Amino acid sequence: MAKPEPVIIGIETSCDDTSAGIVQGGSKILSNVVSSQIKIHSEFGGVVPELASRSHLENIYIVVGEALKQAGLQFEDLYGVAVTYGPGLVGSLLVGIEAAKAISYVYKIPLIGVNHLEGHIFSSLLEGQSFKFPFIALIVSGGHTELVKVSGFGEYSIIGQTRDDAVGEVFDKVAKLLDLGYPGGPKVEKLANLATFGVKFPEAVMKDGSFDFSFSGLKTAVRNFKNSGKNTDNNSLCAGFQDAVIAALLNKTFAVAAKNRIKRIVLGGGVIANKTICAEFVKRGKKEGIELFFPSSKLCTDNGAMIALAGYLKYQRKEFCDYDLNADPGLTL
Ligand code: KG4
Ligand code: ZN
Repeated sequence: MAKPEPVIIGIETSCDDTSAGIVQGGSKILSNVVSSQIKIHSEFGGVVPELASRSHLENIYIVVGEALKQAGLQFEDLYGVAVTYGPGLVGSLLVGIEAAKAISYVYKIPLIGVNHLEGHIFSSLLEGQSFKFPFIALIVSGGHTELVKVSGFGEYSIIGQTRDDAVGEVFDKVAKLLDLGYPGGPKVEKLANLATFGVKFPEAVMKDGSFDFSFSGLKTAVRNFKNSGKNTDNNSLCAGFQDAVIAALLNKTFAVAAKNRIKRIVLGGGVIANKTICAEFVKRGKKEGIELFFPSSKLCTDNGAMIALAGYLKYQRKEFCDYDLNADPGLTL
């Protein structure tokens, strides 16, 4: 009889979602429970670190218990416990790490530390998609904007990053200045979809020819336009803003793929939940003969299953951690 595929639990508490996901064999999601803190942070228009860690503490064991229940499993059925140890908010990361250590110690299973960005990079694999190395990954979330050449699991070279705001952050800030609420990404996308035209905003081009991004100028341009008193509705502002973001993401990512002669692009991170962004990538990919991979919306935003998957890839390589595993808020790839 074939050996059962290893079952890994992934714990994710790097920002404002408390999540635990259980994945078998690196692709089969048995459960993926996400407890969102949106209600707690929305009145402040952004994540308040102290409130986030307190809320993780209240929720972590409930979320882990629920993930086991939905998977129909007991702690004893787990082969390993994976946890995000960075990048992220230190107080939030520590809650997940301590919970993972407790599970590892009590049930005598390996502890696996996962870089949150690796979770986002490989999240498309959770839905049965498979891609070959090398590929270009674009990870765009509330805290990150990274263009990365991925030559193998654990083999990353960063080609471009943001020099100021991350893409998700700029969506959130534009939503705040238009009084749309938090998180801003889905709200801006919704209004952009209703627009009949988009205000023209310039795409930020790096004068030094680098593949880095800059979005703070765009945010200022939206604010200036709003304050100028010109008679334009929020829908057209959101559409124009979103178009300018898409132009920057598309042009840089495809230019990097062409320069490296790589025919595969993998997208990940909360901003990829934006259907217009994905559609534009697919359209350009078809034109340029480049294969596109991205997860469905619910696996784009932070979740435990993507950490369990990255944990499984490390489990196979026996890349385990000791109990001195610590939070690393500034962890890079
Ligand atoms: O990956 P994620 O859940 O958390 C981080 O690792 O940061 O990403 C959250 C970010 C937020 O900034 C949110 O506004 C953005 O992803 N986001 C979107 C959309 N859905 C979420 N941005 C644009 N369009 C969306 N539909
Ligand atoms: Zn994330």
